[in-house]
Amino acid sequence: MITDTTAESGEVKSSILDCVGNTPLVSLDRLFPEKELQVISKLELMNPGGSMKDRTARYMIEQGIENGTIPHGAHLIESSSGNLGIAIAMACRILGLSFTCVVDPKTTETNVRILRQLGATVEMVQEPDENGGYLQSRIRRVKELLHKIPDSYWINQYANENNWKAHYNGTATEMVRQLNRSVDVFFAAVSTTGSLLGCTRKLREHFPSIRVIAVDAVGSILFGGPPGKREIPGIGSSRVPELLSPEEIDDVVYVSDLEASWGCRELLEKEGIFAGGSSGSIVAAIQKYLPALPRPCRILTLFPDRGDRYLDLVYNDDWVKQLSDEKTDEPQLMVRERV
Ligand SMILES: Cc1ncc(COP(=O)(O)O)c(C=O)c1O
Repeated sequence: MITDTTAESGEVKSSILDCVGNTPLVSLDRLFPEKELQVISKLELMNPGGSMKDRTARYMIEQGIENGTIPHGAHLIESSSGNLGIAIAMACRILGLSFTCVVDPKTTETNVRILRQLGATVEMVQEPDENGGYLQSRIRRVKELLHKIPDSYWINQYANENNWKAHYNGTATEMVRQLNRSVDVFFAAVSTTGSLLGCTRKLREHFPSIRVIAVDAVGSILFGGPPGKREIPGIGSSRVPELLSPEEIDDVVYVSDLEASWGCRELLEKEGIFAGGSSGSIVAAIQKYLPALPRPCRILTLFPDRGDRYLDLVYNDDWVKQLSDEKTDEPQLMVRERV
């Protein structure tokens, strides 16, 4: 049998990790047909593990190995209920590392199964913390495991500087290369804020007057809003990330779960793009924000993940109906100026 292991030879990649990145930009002309407007999205959902977190995982691990903070043969630990956990598990398969993913009962059954298929040990916390959520319980469990497991290393995506650098050196560097002229506004969904900040820092080097809009979930406390129930994973946070740098963000648009679902369905209907909840939030946020933007206007965004893992949420009519029934007033069309 002839095995070609040289990545340089033609189009043969040396592993699935080398398939991360180089995602396309698409113009959403059917969803946003207005003449003086163009909305361009980077399809990060085309990464091999299913999300933009493939980039973050790969970069944080490879840099950690290179600078010696992740020892060879280390046991990685991270608290994640979805995309990052799956991306780390995929990378660990290739890099010969072990991985324990700390999850909670709100993590979907599908994601737990994918994590296990990829060889991760899944550690499920059961006890809600003092705030009624699971975030603090998960962090406590991570710290216990760090003491218990030799050569263990906590990725800590909320504080890891290589989180935003993955997007500065990857996602946004590609976008600048792919664009044929400047853009006026950048929208990104936020949780750790790593992708928004990494892209913003690179984009501002090339387009200094670009306006940066964070898309957050109603009920997320990232920018000081009141905590509330939210069901769509990926977007929003129940803690303030160490990485957050609010002075670099011009505005925040809040999107409810219901609006995100409408956004996802419109994106699928008009553009045939089957994307996850936060992509729907971005579509809804752009629609809300459009009246405040000058014309002509060129908007750039990214769609973080695929729709498959959201069939029981945003694409489930019963889930949507339940949200609509619970809704007592109009969806919160909040836009907050200058955080
Ligand atoms: C689907 C999805 N959208 C948006 C985000 C937000 O990205 P970041 O953590 O870089 O702010 C995440 C992060 O996990 C995600 O999984």
